[in-house]
Parts: sequence; C-alpha cells; structure tokens
Amino acid sequence: MQNCGNHSRLILLFLFSSLSSICGTFPSTSLSSSFSASQQITLQANGDLPKNYEYQVQINYKIDNPRLKRGYIALQAWKKSILSDPSNFTSNWDGPDVCKYNGVFCAPAPDDSKADTVAGIDLNRVDIAGDLPAELGLLTDVSILHLNSNRFHGVVPKCIYRLKLIRELDLSNNNFVGPFPEEVLALPNLKYLDLRFNSFEGELPSQLFDKELDALFLNDNRFTSKLPDNFGNSSASVMVLANNQLEGPIPTSVGKMANTLDELVLFNNKFNGCLSSEIGFLGNASVVDLENNSFSGTLPVTLKGLETIETLNLAYNNFTGFVPDNICGLPKLVNFTFAYNYFNGEALSCVPTSRKDVALDDTSNCLPQRPNQKSHKECVPVVTNPIDCGNSEYEPAPQPSPSEESEMSAHSQMGVESHSSATSHAEFSFNL
Ligand SMILES: *[C@@H]1O[C@H](CO)[C@@H](O)[C@H](O)[C@H]1NC(C)=O
Ligand SMILES: *[C@@H]1O[C@H](CO)[C@@H](O)[C@H](O)[C@H]1NC(C)=O
Ligand SMILES: *[C@@H]1O[C@H](CO)[C@@H](O)[C@H](O)[C@H]1NC(C)=O
Ligand SMILES: *[C@@H]1O[C@H](CO)[C@@H](O)[C@H](O)[C@H]1NC(C)=O
Ligand SMILES: *[C@@H]1O[C@H](CO)[C@@H](O)[C@H](O)[C@H]1NC(C)=O
Ligand SMILES: *[C@@H]1O[C@H](CO)[C@@H](O)[C@H](O)[C@H]1NC(C)=O
Repeated sequence: MQNCGNHSRLILLFLFSSLSSICGTFPSTSLSSSFSASQQITLQANGDLPKNYEYQVQINYKIDNPRLKRGYIALQAWKKSILSDPSNFTSNWDGPDVCKYNGVFCAPAPDDSKADTVAGIDLNRVDIAGDLPAELGLLTDVSILHLNSNRFHGVVPKCIYRLKLIRELDLSNNNFVGPFPEEVLALPNLKYLDLRFNSFEGELPSQLFDKELDALFLNDNRFTSKLPDNFGNSSASVMVLANNQLEGPIPTSVGKMANTLDELVLFNNKFNGCLSSEIGFLGNASVVDLENNSFSGTLPVTLKGLETIETLNLAYNNFTGFVPDNICGLPKLVNFTFAYNYFNGEALSCVPTSRKDVALDDTSNCLPQRPNQKSHKECVPVVTNPIDCGNSEYEPAPQPSPSEESEMSAHSQMGVESHSSATSHAEFSFNL
C-alpha cells in the first residue's frame, strides 16, 4: 500500500473502505460530495498516485495543455485538503487558469517552450493548515516548492519523488512528522533542502550527504542518528543540524568539505567525542558552532587552519586543556566563545578584553586567575583526568621548540608555565 502506482483501483477501493475509519480527520460530508471515489482514495491511501491517474479524473473545464491539466488536478485536490486558510489565500484557486492562482507561477516547460506549465509554488507564511495530497506528484515541472511557515501536517507523501526538476524544497516551519522523507534523495536536481522546524525523527540517511546540495537545513527536528562516515561528501556550503538529538563524533570526512563549507551549525545536540583534526581543514568556513554538545578532550592543533573563521562557538561542552594564541589570533575572528568548558589555560590573546575587535568569552572554565570560573571541586576530577585525543601539541609535555618561545612567554603571563598538561594541572590546583 505504500508503494507507488501499481495497485488496481479495486484494491485501492478496498483499502479505502478499510482505512476510512482511521482517516477520519477529513470532514467526510464535504469530501464525499465533492470528490469521486478515486480521488478520495489517492488522498487516503497516502503516498503515491495510481498510474495514469490524471486520465481518470473528470474535469468540467477544457484545458488543452495536458501539463496545466495536471496542475489543475493537483491544485484542486490540494485546495480540498486544506482545513484552514485564514487569509483566504487559496480563494482564487478556481477555474482552469491555474497560472492566475495565488502563489502559483507558470513558465514555459523546459522540454517544450510553447507550452506553459506550473514551474513554482510559493505558499510561504500563508498559515494554511492541511496535509499534502498525493496529487502533488502531478506537478512534475515545478522547480521550486516553498511551503514555509504554514500548518501542513502529516508525513511528506511519497509522490514527491516525481518532482524530478525541483531545485528548492522548503517545508520548514510546519508540522510534518515521520522519518526523514527518503523520497527527496531521488530528486536529481535538488540544491536547497529545508526541513527545519518540523517533527521529523529518526536517522539521517547516509545518501543525503552524497547529494550535491548547496544548503541543508535540518535544525529543530527530532533526528537522533550519528553522522554517517560519508558526511564530508556533502557539497553544501551551509549545513545546519542544530536543535536535534544527534550524537557521536563529527566524522573525519569533514575535512573533505574544506573548499565548499561556509557554515557548520551543530549546537544543542548530543554530539560527543574528541574533535578530529580534520575540522581544522575547513579553511573556507566562516561559522563553526558546536555549542552545547558533549564534545570533550583537548582542541586539535589544526584549528589554527580556520583562516576565514568569523564565529567560532565551543561553549557548553567538556573541552579541556589549553586555548592557544593561534586560535584567538585567527585573522577574521569576530566572536570566539569557549565558555562553560573545563579549559585550564588560555593564551593572553584569548583573555576577553585583550582584543577590542573580537568578542571572547572564557566564563565558567577552570582558568587560574580568571573571574567567574568553575569551582575547584568541579574542575579537579575533569582536569586531572584529561582525555587524550592524540591531536594536540599542548599535551603531553613536549619540549618547547625555539619557535614556541614567544607564545610561551604569553602563557607565563597568564600563570601557565608550560604546554604540558601535567604541569598545568599542578599549576591549576596550586593557583586555586
Ligand atoms: C475569508 O473569507 C471568509 C468567508 O468568505 C470571511 O468571513 C473572512 O472575513 C475572510 N478573511 C479574510 C482575511 O479576508
Ligand atoms: C562518499 O564517501 C564514501 C567514503 O566515506 C565513498 O566510499 C563514496 O564513494 C563517496 N560517495 C560519493 C558520491 O562521493
Ligand atoms: C542544551 O541543549 C539541551 C537540549 O539538548 C537543552 O535542554 C539545554 O537547555 C541547552 N543548554 C543550553 C545552555 O543552551
Ligand atoms: C578556499 O577558497 C579559495 C577560493 O576562494 C580556494 O582558493 C581555496 O583553495 C579554498 N580552500 C581552502 C581549504 O582554503
Ligand atoms: C561532561 O562533564 C560533566 C561534568 O563533569 C559530566 O557530568 C558529563 O558526563 C560529561 N559529559 C561527557 C559526554 O563526557
Ligand atoms: C558571540 O557569540 C555568542 C554565541 O553565539 C553570542 O551569545 C554572543 O551574543 C556573541 N557576541 C557578540 C558580541 O556578538
């Protein structure tokens, strides 16, 4: 029943009669009077259209262009499934000229410049409530479907895989539920995928990161998976996964995004583990926001490679060790917060107020001689049992090379005598 278009009408009729009791959210009187049996079925059987569905629908108008006829069927079915349209936005969705409907944009078909077709739908911020009917699968020429800030609910119908030309799919800020809508993976031209502010749940499919997207917004859902190993295959320049329940480390493949990734926003998840060195390869990124996860261990020395970073947020994690000058001195830095961690040393250039041009925040760490730090009791267990990520030159106890000496003197001014974590601990407990 979840499959696409292979069922006979008889089977669908049977399914409909057996499903009608669970699908009771539609006002059955108005529905049965305005829809033929087959139209009801496609609405309820959820997912896809029967084969050649458009030829089964009776239309009272003469629409010569078969593309616009499909558009008409889709938009009428959609209008019927709307439960609330407070601004009467769809009130002119009547009659054969679908190109005049509010929010509907027509253009010459890509494969037939003489025929107009529905090329885009923009219902952004209309506050419509309803679900997406399977008939949407008839809009095979749309390149843009923008539904943000409405009250669409239910699962995304399977028929969405039919929109082969779509480039931008924005379902954000609605009430969609269910697993990640895997059908979008089959959309060859998709560049912009925006599912944020819904209630999608479960795993992110690994194929998502093999798609050639420009932007991926999945924030504010209920996704729970680890990031798959092929994470770094993604070509997205903006990747926002914040406010989910994602876990595990950032895969080392993140380094493959060096030339494309601009913003990586992962705050308010359950990511953990050490930061892999490869995160420092993101030499074209302007924003890396890891706030409020469970990352731990020392910072990889490679972070100095974030040469275009403007906003770096490491706050509310379990990082330990030293915050070095080569991060705080990054050339494009505007805002670097590493508050609410367990850092027990920072370079002079990392002390807030040390630079007027950069907002720095070192609150609530384990920094000797700094105000507003964690208590001795909180710090000792974490700082004396540091996690060795094997990624940092600041541990354990390398002999300083001549080139490190200028940095060393800066450390000394902060009361941190050495790069050695062992020495820092001693120093730390002594100072406290
Ligand atoms: C929408 O239409 C209904 C019924 O015709 C009317 O009562 C209501 O005032 C209209 N709302 C707006 C915002 O125009
Ligand atoms: C994605 O990455 C994996 C390894 O992480 C690789 O085997 C695969 O071929 C990549 N796929 C694409 C489409 O680049
Ligand atoms: C951290 O995220 C959790 C949800 O994962 C949230 O409940 C909590 O308020 C957040 N804390 C901060 C400081 O943002
Ligand atoms: C960043 O972008 C520039 C072009 O703007 C490019 O030359 C460079 O190789 C890119 N990659 C890294 C890692 O900086
Ligand atoms: C982070 O540190 C806190 C306080 O020590 C601890 O309760 C928590 O388990 C740590 N989380 C991880 C993931 O290490
Ligand atoms: C710096 O970033 C933090 C975290 O995103 C934010 O709370 C703070 O307001 C920012 N500070 C400035 C001065 O922009």
